[in-house]
Amino acid sequence: MLNTDNIIRNFPILTRVIKKENSQAIEANQANGKKLVYLDNAATSQKPYSVVEAISSYYLNNNANVHRGVHTLADESTTIFETSKIKIAQFFGAKNNELIFVRNTTEAINGVAYGWGEQNINLEDVIIVSVLDHHSNIVVWQELCKRKKAKLVFVGITSEGKFDEEDFDEKLKKFSGKIKMVALPHVSNALGSTVDLKTIVKKVRDSEKQQVDKVKSQKIRILIDGAQSAPHMKINFNNLGVDFFAFSGHKMLGPMGIGGLLVREELLKSDEMRPWLFGGGMIAEVHESHTIFNDDINERFVAGTPDVASTAGLAAACEYMDNLGMDNVLKHDHELVQYALTELEKDKNIEIVGPKDETRTGSVSFIFKGAHAHDVAQVLDSEGIAVRSGHHCTMPLHTSQKWIATTRASFQVYNSKEDIDALVDGLKKVAKILL
Ligand SMILES: Cc1ncc(COP(=O)(O)O)c(C=O)c1O
Repeated sequence: MLNTDNIIRNFPILTRVIKKENSQAIEANQANGKKLVYLDNAATSQKPYSVVEAISSYYLNNNANVHRGVHTLADESTTIFETSKIKIAQFFGAKNNELIFVRNTTEAINGVAYGWGEQNINLEDVIIVSVLDHHSNIVVWQELCKRKKAKLVFVGITSEGKFDEEDFDEKLKKFSGKIKMVALPHVSNALGSTVDLKTIVKKVRDSEKQQVDKVKSQKIRILIDGAQSAPHMKINFNNLGVDFFAFSGHKMLGPMGIGGLLVREELLKSDEMRPWLFGGGMIAEVHESHTIFNDDINERFVAGTPDVASTAGLAAACEYMDNLGMDNVLKHDHELVQYALTELEKDKNIEIVGPKDETRTGSVSFIFKGAHAHDVAQVLDSEGIAVRSGHHCTMPLHTSQKWIATTRASFQVYNSKEDIDALVDGLKKVAKILL
């Protein structure tokens, strides 16, 4: 396990006390407040000093617009932006020009739909997603399919709550020759199920080869929603064999408002992926009749002023994670998940949802029998414990399983087994109050 005593010192917010001044005290001692136990990391993580400092230092010392200025501050700002970009791309095992900054995963996926989908998806083409997907990786494709009269196909889950590879095989076969995009989550935010990308990529590439003899060759592009994997595991984009990878900075100790879309250089160079935002910065020449975009891929996808401060903050988050070591980060997470599963399963009121094996990453979700998830979360909050309740932006998953709502505890590098013990104790209180 990571040394969480040391890590917590880097996260001032974690020393907060949660007081419910105006709510009815459930116990007399509640007025004294409860130490925060933050278990809502899949929604957003907390930020270490170094991230906050990188942002404030930029605004206090270096703020100026990038690229177009020749003065000292413009030069410093440009250097901060460019060095941060290099650091972040390296963290993800990507080439510098394969990283496009966006606000978050949602915007990254929208970027693919507009920059790639608009020109590559046509009538009756098929896009494959999964029931495990977050709304961000469903609604965007639904809308594209509506515009293009294309078809959105869902892969189901197994009884354990894992991505159903057999169903995937069937769908690849059934829609062979028509599939243009496979867009899947790396890790489910609702169930912690980890999709085995090696297997997925092989299946897709095999199915591409099989269709060559029968119909004209159809390239299938693969997009991975990495919102819940980037915070916990080493991503090596150039080894993954996928075409697009989307992530949010705010879930991996970085600031809100910055994320990334990684796109294989070949797609950018060949113009298969075009800019989807236009304006200043991304151009080479502008004429009244037309515009020529910047040849440099690093510039072509930066329309308008970039968020330099957040870029510096995200680079600091990557550095923080790198110093811990992503292998240690993943090991820590898996130990917490397994401990949580073991401890929660002892409670007869709790039904765990999703896989229970060592592949489960980032979170544990459950149904508290006899109480609504929102009530469960509210009682836990009165104990200082922050969890999330509801459908976690996975309504198709919840509907398919007939779950009204679930409660989710999700972890980061500063969480310890004591936090899970606090959750287990908090749930005993829930039983006392709600059952
Ligand atoms: C798997 C997954 N995809 C996409 C998103 C959307 O992330 P964002 O709100 O940062 O765009 C989330 C957020 O929880 C997520 O868990």
